[in-house]
Amino acid sequence: MKKKSSQPVSRSGRFTSGPSADVARFSESISFDWRLWQHDILGSMAHASMLHKIGVLSKKELADILKGLEEIGQEISDGQFTWKPELEDVHMNIESELTRRYPAGAKLHTSRSRNDQVALDVRMWVRDEIIALTQEIKELQKSLVALGEKYREVIIPGYTHLQRAQPVFFAHHLLAYVEMLERDGARLADCFPRVNICPLGSGAIAGSTLPLDREFVAEYLQFVDSKGAAVVSQNSMDAVCDRDFMIEYCSAGALIAMHLSRLAEDVIIWVTAEFGFIRISDSYTTGSSLMPQKKNPDIAELTRGKTGRVYGNLVALLTLLKGLPMTYNRDLQEDKERLFDTSDTVRGSVRLMSGMFQNISVNAANCQKAASDPSLLATDLADYLVRKGMPFRKAHHAVGEIVALAEKKEKTLSGLSIQDYKTVSKEFGPDVLEVFNLQKAMSLKNLVGAPGTEQVAAQLARWRNKLGA
Ligand code: ARG
Repeated sequence: MKKKSSQPVSRSGRFTSGPSADVARFSESISFDWRLWQHDILGSMAHASMLHKIGVLSKKELADILKGLEEIGQEISDGQFTWKPELEDVHMNIESELTRRYPAGAKLHTSRSRNDQVALDVRMWVRDEIIALTQEIKELQKSLVALGEKYREVIIPGYTHLQRAQPVFFAHHLLAYVEMLERDGARLADCFPRVNICPLGSGAIAGSTLPLDREFVAEYLQFVDSKGAAVVSQNSMDAVCDRDFMIEYCSAGALIAMHLSRLAEDVIIWVTAEFGFIRISDSYTTGSSLMPQKKNPDIAELTRGKTGRVYGNLVALLTLLKGLPMTYNRDLQEDKERLFDTSDTVRGSVRLMSGMFQNISVNAANCQKAASDPSLLATDLADYLVRKGMPFRKAHHAVGEIVALAEKKEKTLSGLSIQDYKTVSKEFGPDVLEVFNLQKAMSLKNLVGAPGTEQVAAQLARWRNKLGA
């Protein structure tokens, strides 16, 4: 057998020459899938332990393999390991080096294919990412709740169509995002059990003739359900080419990115001189190379901007999968960069946004000025008339006339006299101007979920408890 020293183990025997340099460059994945090394090693340890259990590996062989994998893991972690592009991917790099050191390594791939191996590695990787991202989302929620708490008295205009609509507590606005993030966390938790399924033992496509103990491997790698029972894939063909779990994760990531982008957009608006609701401390802003006065909300802008690539990754994955016949096709190697990029981008954005919110202060005076625009309480004025028995449609019309009158007289709604009000409707009484007492107005909006004083305090308390903040 002619075997070139640079021949990957997968080609030995069948092939007489190695791939051309260009082919090797085009097909390698080690430049990005090296990131799976911890999971690959752990998966190999589990597989080897199982092979020993069923009698394929002797005690000594297992010990050698475990020792070799541990050494290699340590070297990778210390940055001492040399990845060889000619060995294509993380799986073959580790296995080749193991076998070079300990001949027993040649038995490690018994009943295993890189097809079920890579499926295993990415599932374990996504599992860890979900756990980390879930915690990071919680930290961002805590930052938002803390800022809401700190400025719990502050009222701002709430907007629809980016036009001033009705007053809300600043905290209420922030808590809207806390709700969105809670759904994001729930979506991650929901897809977790579909990620947490052990595909090892599926081989290349058709399992193995050897009596593998799949449950042993699953338990070893914590692929267990809530009752601690092993969860293994039930169809070997599906198992080697299923990437649904990855798409679900990237889809949840796309929603998170969308939420963060909206939050970023609010920050960008609030921090303008025109709004002036908030300030971001220097450590989370950047200057301009030309204009000395500039302080830019780059973290928010980048978060908004990065949303595009997260969407792109999702579409790339969906497109990658759509035309694949059963089962494993090399196309699937293209999944990893999209997956890694989504996870890095979303996790980074969540972390940075959390840090930024810990570095935001509110300009209460500017908020108060904006929120004390009496026209924000035009709806409350209509409610005033409804309380007097007027049908809402008529009340809406009457208040519209009041708004027009105020505009004509160049006055605010609270600047009009009782007589002015009476010219529109006899139902306006001497108490009408009390409607424009903002504190009182806020105290009246106490339906569950409304931005009333007591309700917002209750919601802040609920979140503080829930997040353990
Ligand atoms: N690097 C490959 C991937 O990421 C590993 C699986 C390769 N399997 C194969 N039969 N060529 O998909």
